[in-house]
Amino acid sequence: MRPRTIRLAPGADLDGFRAAIRHLVPAEAAPEAVTWVEGEAASLFPEDDAGAPGPALALPRAVAALVPSVVMHRDPERYGLLHRLIWRVAEGERHLAEVASDPLVHRLNLMRKAVARDLHKMHAFLRFRRAGSGEGGRERFAAWFEPEHHILAEAAPFFSARFPSFDWSILTPDGSAHWDGRALSFGPPGRREDVPEQDAFEAGWTDYYSSTFNPARTNLAAMRAEMPKKYWQNMPETAAIPGLVREAGRRVGEMIARAPEPPVKRVPARALAAMAAQEPASLDALNAAIRASEPLVPGATQAVLGEGPLGAAIAFVGEQPGDQEDLQGRPFVGPAGQLLARALVEAGIDRDRAYLTNAVKHFKFEQRGKRRIHRTPSAGEVAHYRWWLDRELAFVAPRLVVALGATAVLALTGRPVPVTRARGPAMFGDKPYAGFVTVHPSYLLRLPDEARGEAYAGFVADLRRASILSEDPAPRLGLLG
Ligand code: URA
Repeated sequence: MRPRTIRLAPGADLDGFRAAIRHLVPAEAAPEAVTWVEGEAASLFPEDDAGAPGPALALPRAVAALVPSVVMHRDPERYGLLHRLIWRVAEGERHLAEVASDPLVHRLNLMRKAVARDLHKMHAFLRFRRAGSGEGGRERFAAWFEPEHHILAEAAPFFSARFPSFDWSILTPDGSAHWDGRALSFGPPGRREDVPEQDAFEAGWTDYYSSTFNPARTNLAAMRAEMPKKYWQNMPETAAIPGLVREAGRRVGEMIARAPEPPVKRVPARALAAMAAQEPASLDALNAAIRASEPLVPGATQAVLGEGPLGAAIAFVGEQPGDQEDLQGRPFVGPAGQLLARALVEAGIDRDRAYLTNAVKHFKFEQRGKRRIHRTPSAGEVAHYRWWLDRELAFVAPRLVVALGATAVLALTGRPVPVTRARGPAMFGDKPYAGFVTVHPSYLLRLPDEARGEAYAGFVADLRRASILSEDPAPRLGLLG
């Protein structure tokens, strides 16, 4: 077997890898005989390998899906591992990628998950700063980010979809991405110093965060797991954390003295561990798990999943599906949903660009004759669904989450806080999005006619404020306490 060296471009060279593999497999070049290296010059093949690559290989879907993710991983062995996988598949193990227990497949799956996590982190934790004005006086923004893997090209379209009307640049140690309102382009690595320092606007958010930080929910381990410390320095809202954490003990004491909150029932540790062991890699995988889960009461038709685009700037969390939602399998389509839809239009929020979901994914009801009467989910039931909601929002990565009513607040914070006390901009624990609390639309439906008009106007005003908070690409509320 003649040894060969394949040199690919630095970073995630998917095209180079594909071209190389189309040479290697038909040429029966076994993985043991091939050394993959990353270098400045792309795809330098030995003399006898030169020429047009062979036709695209017909790979099983599971293999084809793994390749682009694994190519983004920083492990220098990634190309060799993929070559081994494709080689074995070509040798007849067609279903190899589905054998999760195979050591090679296991390793590649871990790499795929690590890349998916890194993408979520970049979407959630990247913060733009104002950087003067660009072409034609358009406002410019810049952000510094240090991804674990080679994900910049994959992550950048998310930001151009979310912030199409500003010029921005994302600088990383491996490369940079730039948006000029029309097209994305990629350039050389940047430096942290090229991104402006915190501005006055950002400082305002830091103050706001400090004033609403909840020391009783300071869980540094959870905060670090969700948001590794290296990202903190780029996030204005985290600038205050070290001081706040130092102060947390004293402030908790004061809070307990003032008004202790009743504890919320938690999901048993064993059940959580079982769920965490099957950590879903995508929103589709999470939804499949929700769909397969038990309803709260027998007779519920189906789980009602969230609806809306990934990367929606604003997400709304309601309580649970109602009768109509349960039958149609979509959130907010019944009477409360119709009222919400009207209020969204009046507040200038495009429902199709927002993400709508519920704290609890199944309809809880009591059968009375032919009618199914809504029953409020218990704190324990809300806690049971928190696991799903947390992950769902991590995948969607909104900038602002609006809690509609007390059940949503309980689901998002883990604490039973009355809406009247929390209404307005809020903090929802150690999450990378800002929060906002308002009433649930079904509360408006229950009001007497003479009170409804004013309450509805207040609801629309809340949605308008929430929309403004969600639209600004500059930093905003983050780690919520
Ligand atoms: N109420 C909710 O909280 N969610 C729905 O989907 C419908 C009504």
